[in-house]
Amino acid sequence: MSNEIKNVEYGLEKIFEGAQDFLPLLGTDYVEFIVGNAKQAAHYYKTAFGYQSLAYAGLETGVRDRASYVLQQGKIRLVLTTPLTGESELNNHIVKHGDAVKVVALWVEDARKSFEETVSRGAKPYMEPTVETDEFGEVVRSGIYTYGETVHMFVERKNYTGAFLPGYREWKSDYNPAPTGLKYVDHMVGNVGWNEMNIWVKWYEEVMGFVNFLSFDDKQINTEYSALMSKVMSNGNGRIKFPINEPAEGAKRSQIEEYLDFYGGPGVQHIAIATDDIIKTVSDLKSRGVEFLSAPPQAYYDAVPDRLGVHRDAFKEDIKEIQKLAIMVDADEEGYLLQIFTKPVEDRPTLFYEIIQRMGARGFGAGNFKALFESIEREQELRGTL
Ligand code: FE2
Repeated sequence: MSNEIKNVEYGLEKIFEGAQDFLPLLGTDYVEFIVGNAKQAAHYYKTAFGYQSLAYAGLETGVRDRASYVLQQGKIRLVLTTPLTGESELNNHIVKHGDAVKVVALWVEDARKSFEETVSRGAKPYMEPTVETDEFGEVVRSGIYTYGETVHMFVERKNYTGAFLPGYREWKSDYNPAPTGLKYVDHMVGNVGWNEMNIWVKWYEEVMGFVNFLSFDDKQINTEYSALMSKVMSNGNGRIKFPINEPAEGAKRSQIEEYLDFYGGPGVQHIAIATDDIIKTVSDLKSRGVEFLSAPPQAYYDAVPDRLGVHRDAFKEDIKEIQKLAIMVDADEEGYLLQIFTKPVEDRPTLFYEIIQRMGARGFGAGNFKALFESIEREQELRGTL
């Protein structure tokens, strides 16, 4: 198997044969949301998820048309941006998609080269390479469109020592809730339209040099009612993983269809965030008001030892604690993983989060798909969208 993961450490070396590292990508730089009220969204992410105040841009820093709050936890940076006037084009994004992920920014060595390489391979430009400077140095950014109105920005920051980007000032707050153990973005999933998954798989292969290292068809991902298909794309060093989902025909409406209807097209469905201690992180998040999907039935937990297989002896967690928190367990050849999914974090049934602790496993919890989707369907039922 040529696409097998050969190295469990996420080094810069290539671990996926067939991937082309003409960019190359060093990691996720930031995720920017366009929201209706960035001040309140920032309060939510600080209070509920334990993000820390990092930087700010707005009227007080000379920006007239928008306000942006930058939050950080571990290696994760969120930017929450809101338009300040009715004239701003950002309003259109909110009307169409609700509060939504607009930018998945990728940290690169060379933002000019990243732009040239991807655009010459067919990417639609979003922002030409642009140099921004302040007293802390310079950042070069460029951007291309991916699915829907979502954008990948390339960020070159090797000559910059400031808090975030030129134009932002450090944000010192008196309100600093403790972090919850969130470490880095493990993967980010995009939902695309009917029969579009393979178009975007090909786009990530050809434009970004990614490889498709895992695939799930509708025979594997289905319940009594609904189905979807998914392919996982990764860059060469494995730091960036983007599964792509499309709906599939089922007896009732696929959760992907529900997303597409409410989001108004393709977009980011969930952001999976890694933790080293999922029991502590999830307990903490629950106590702060983060809502998770309901627990799978008892039969699911009874089957956990079987699902762990050869990794049964390596399983360190207290299964009662795991069940109490509704955390799910899956295993693959290399190890096991623990994961849990939030309910949508906004009023539209669109974006949600996954919290994941990998104990050697490199998969995405395929053994949990059925239980997970049944749980999502219970929510869809309540929303009248199944
Ligand atoms: Fe996921």
